[in-house]
Amino acid sequence: MTDRYAVIGNPVKHSQSPLIHAEFARQTGEDISYEKLLAPLDAFEETARQFFSNGGRGLNITLPFKRKAWDMAHSHVGSALDAEAVNTIVLNADQLIGYNTDGLGLVTDIERNLGFSIAGKRVLLMGAGGATYGVMHPLLERRPEKLVVANRALDKAVSLVKHFQKFKAFARDGISAAPYQDLATHQFDLVINATSAGLSGEMPPLPQGVFALGALAYDMVYGRDTPFLKFARLHDARAVDGLGMLVEQAAASFLIWRGVRPQTTPVIAKLRSMT
Ligand code: ATR
Repeated sequence: MTDRYAVIGNPVKHSQSPLIHAEFARQTGEDISYEKLLAPLDAFEETARQFFSNGGRGLNITLPFKRKAWDMAHSHVGSALDAEAVNTIVLNADQLIGYNTDGLGLVTDIERNLGFSIAGKRVLLMGAGGATYGVMHPLLERRPEKLVVANRALDKAVSLVKHFQKFKAFARDGISAAPYQDLATHQFDLVINATSAGLSGEMPPLPQGVFALGALAYDMVYGRDTPFLKFARLHDARAVDGLGMLVEQAAASFLIWRGVRPQTTPVIAKLRSMT
């Protein structure tokens, strides 16, 4: 029997996840269906419950429901615990188990696909919203030299850093929060844009000179050449969008659901050829 999965969000129309999972299913021979599920903003839990009571086996959760999915899950595994956000749910013997594969997707794309090792590197993470919470733990697990979180509203970056202080030993020089203007005298090997600035064609107030020689600039937004990526290229950094992260987080969800890891390279190439 075909097992049902879906991505739930609002909006969800433009989600690439059905296409990605259809490719994974074709590749691995897994018998699944994967649909888009639009939940009203005030009825996430109701919509998700209905999906599971109609035979659904697992959900991907996208904006703006990742926090609500965390609240709904009966238990949390791995980085979902501290992210307080869930992007993957599995129904297991009446229990909803919550995972967060966003951070794993990000580090897998950076390390495996882009060949950039995070260990010992100076990392700057921009933004202090849900997207940043989701990737903090997996990034720290890669043992950077230091991790700096920059945000316009500094108090949000400070409380985020506090939230993850228990992992500070993962980074040799620790984790810290900084306002953008303090970055003018610092250089980073990896600069990740986890803000939503690119979605509105904006750019975080990043001083020039933050990119160390050979730096990688990574925007978690995909499918558009954001002002941050343009700025990075202008300053000789290698600029990459978040398409690979999208496919890698999907592959990690597929592995959780089906016990088999699909190949991501051909799927990334296919999506790139479509944009
Ligand atoms: P998400 O869950 O996607 O992270 P969010 O919680 O609304 O979304 O957070 C959006 C993040 O993008 C915030 O860190 C926000 O910075 P502020 O807290 O200072 O507002 C950041 N952001 C949005 N637009 C930005 C811009 N033009 N420049 C810099 N940061 C921006």
